[in-house]
Amino acid sequence: THVVAEPCFGCKYTDCVVVCPVECFYEGESMLYIHPDECIDCEACVPECPVEAIFHEDNLPEEWAEYTELNAELAQTCPVLTEKKEPLAGNDG
Ligand code: F3S
Repeated sequence: THVVAEPCFGCKYTDCVVVCPVECFYEGESMLYIHPDECIDCEACVPECPVEAIFHEDNLPEEWAEYTELNAELAQTCPVLTEKKEPLAGNDG
């Protein structure tokens, strides 16, 4: 599965959700999460994220290891997001 990591926190560009063929992105208050049972590892979202927040779990930087569990847990409690929306921040860099 793929995992959304810290760079998404406070950003939520949501470019990722638009290209996802299985709609496996779930929206938390500050970031998005990928449901591990739904992600098919197509990698379509990886190059779409402007802040490079999405990783295959095997390539997840050590410092963000906890995000694998976090995605799995929170994807179950958050609503699915399938359309692009205004990002939280980052418009001005
Ligand atoms: Fe977050 Fe990047 Fe998607 S900032 S919402 S993982 S495009």
